[in-house]
Amino acid sequence: MSKPDLTLSEKAMLVLKAADDPSQIDAVCDRYNIERDEFDRWCQAFLSGGTERLVTMDKEGSTSRVESHVEATLDYLPSSHFLLRILARLIAVLNQRDSYTKQHSDDVAYYSIEIGKHLGLDSDTMQTLYIAGTLHDVGKIGISDHILNKNDELTSEEMELMKEHPRLAVELIGTEEGLQDVSKAVYHHHENYDGSGYPEGLAGEEIPLLARILAIADAFSAMTTDRPYRPAMRVVDAARELVNKAGTQFDPKLVPIFVERVLKIPLSKLQERS
Ligand SMILES: [Fe+2]
Ligand SMILES: [Fe+2]
Repeated sequence: MSKPDLTLSEKAMLVLKAADDPSQIDAVCDRYNIERDEFDRWCQAFLSGGTERLVTMDKEGSTSRVESHVEATLDYLPSSHFLLRILARLIAVLNQRDSYTKQHSDDVAYYSIEIGKHLGLDSDTMQTLYIAGTLHDVGKIGISDHILNKNDELTSEEMELMKEHPRLAVELIGTEEGLQDVSKAVYHHHENYDGSGYPEGLAGEEIPLLARILAIADAFSAMTTDRPYRPAMRVVDAARELVNKAGTQFDPKLVPIFVERVLKIPLSKLQERS
């Protein structure tokens, strides 16, 4: 028999079925004529973010750093099937709407847990952070296609609509038991340290710690990714931008942790103009 040609969401549904009842995995594989190895790869892809993203430095960076995203994030997967199901469902829906957001979400989850490791966060908090990173832009599901997929910079009116995505995210995940802390981090990920952000204009440590971490990971991922309307910035330039905005947009205590310990770029290096 030939291999089934399943869509992404069909694969996601099978993974969810297996997550609900692992004893059914072999039966699912038989019914859909899927090799068990291949099915395990789908599970890993859905539950870890899927792509082997390599984080590398350009020549301006102090070190070259290569790490497998999949391995780095597996430790922080939700342990309960309930959370797993919600997470996989939302990721699958988001990926269908907008492949940039899916890749960006993987990156944000990855950078966030790297920061969390250096802060010594406990494993429950790390799990919350990983899920929040993965879901931080899930509210974009509620943003219309012409804004979400626009190949140009957004007008101010469109930007106002886009700013609804943290609220929409809370509508999607906020009432689910066990996800309140995830919701809180996601809701506040566009707050600025000086109070100029949205949706609530919180400042300093009023902003939940996990949201302050997400903000740095989010900005770094966005700056270092090619978009239709602008090319990606170099890693070292994006790091310099974070440092320049420490204390205004970003938490000034977290920026050095990300730049020096995660990216391994000495702050002194950023003072030299390139
Ligand atoms: Fe966002
Ligand atoms: Fe984002």
